[in-house]
Amino acid sequence: MESTQLDHYKEIFLTCVEGIMVFQRGKVILANPQCTSLFGYSHEELIGMSVENFIPQSGRIAHEKQRSEYMKAPDTRQMGVGRDLMAVRKDGSTFPVEVSLNPAMMDGEQTIITHIIDISKRKQAEDNLKKSEEQLLRYAAELEKRVHERTEELATTVERLKEANESMKKEVSERIKAENEAQIALSKEKELNELKTRFVSMASHEFRTPLSTILSSASLISKYNAPDTEPKRMKHINRIKGNVSELTNILNDFLSLDKLDDGKMSVTLAEFDVCHMLEEVVSELQIVTKPNQEIILKADIQNCIINSDIQILKQVLTNLVSNAIKYSPEGSDIKLEGNTVKNTIIIKVIDQGIGIPEGDQKHLFQKFFRAHNASHIQGTGLGLNIVSKYLELIGGEISFESVEGKGSTFIVKLNSI
Ligand SMILES: Nc1ncnc2c1ncn2[C@@H]1O[C@H](COP(=O)(O)OP(=O)(O)OP(=O)(O)O)[C@@H](O)[C@H]1O
Ligand SMILES: [Mg+2]
Repeated sequence: MESTQLDHYKEIFLTCVEGIMVFQRGKVILANPQCTSLFGYSHEELIGMSVENFIPQSGRIAHEKQRSEYMKAPDTRQMGVGRDLMAVRKDGSTFPVEVSLNPAMMDGEQTIITHIIDISKRKQAEDNLKKSEEQLLRYAAELEKRVHERTEELATTVERLKEANESMKKEVSERIKAENEAQIALSKEKELNELKTRFVSMASHEFRTPLSTILSSASLISKYNAPDTEPKRMKHINRIKGNVSELTNILNDFLSLDKLDDGKMSVTLAEFDVCHMLEEVVSELQIVTKPNQEIILKADIQNCIINSDIQILKQVLTNLVSNAIKYSPEGSDIKLEGNTVKNTIIIKVIDQGIGIPEGDQKHLFQKFFRAHNASHIQGTGLGLNIVSKYLELIGGEISFESVEGKGSTFIVKLNSI
């Protein structure tokens, strides 16, 4: 080997950052300067030291065994990879190492060249990494736990909110219900009050007139006690009778209304001739018409036999024709018409009277209701209410058309058979 080349090898040996120790028969024969700084021995001390000196006490016996095994068939191998291989310094302190063994023959002797790397920094870094990893895992676990707890808390809160929402909804609907009930009660009370007012005004008007007539006639009768005053007495007696029967009629209306409201009015169905009934109504009422008023009957009914309650239907028609008479002027005609459309008998009562003001029309069938233009004409405001309830009982219908000052038409519809 050329001397320059040898110098190069020497240079590599001396400057190598790994520790290089060469052993023969287990003893150091060569060590580069890196070994002195690795193990803390001087170069002189190193030479001749046994390999076991560099191994911690606890591993020495095992190492001796392994070494004699290895020496039987030495090969190149890496030590300390995947396990913690430790070396011991002169001062007894230890440090982790990676060692490679390379067998060679030098001067005819089995020689082992070892490369020693101090891996404490790497280990430290690995340890730190491991610690950081562990810490990270701990953080992650902690975070997961917290997220879990928070989720549970949130779920409880959501549950509570839901419950609160539910009870609020319930409360609101209960309140609405209570308000509605109060509203209904209030409107019923209002209706009742209105009814009372209408009744009082009707009663004070309708009862007072006949009662005062009765009273004055009665006191006059007591004065006419001479025999020649008989005609005068009779006149007042008839007046009393007339007024009493008027009051009786009003009371009868009350009674039928009471019965109707309580559902106690019974219906008696039977077949009868409605055309004949129309004639009867005309002849009975013609005698109570105003001067020159005429009731004209025009019946064009296909089949006059119907199945209904004769009393009720007659009362209905009498009531309507009575109204037509009452609310029409002297000398005007009242028409009573009957005809058939498909299976329905339609009876119309047509007058040319005072009519019904438009604003009052929607109240017409209410109890005690009287239109504004009728206040000077006697009436209780019960007739039409009774009529509509009667018709309901026998499955009939009532409607009307009216123009104030021109006249009214009341229309009754009945099922024919
Ligand atoms: N043919 C009609 N023409 C004009 N107004 C009418 C007619 N029929 C009914 N009305 C109006 O409808 C109101 C109610 O009629 P309803 O027959 O119920 O009572 P009334 O005639 O006043 O009293 P009664 O109980 O004596 O019949 C009347 O007060 C009147 O204002
Ligand atoms: Mg009437």
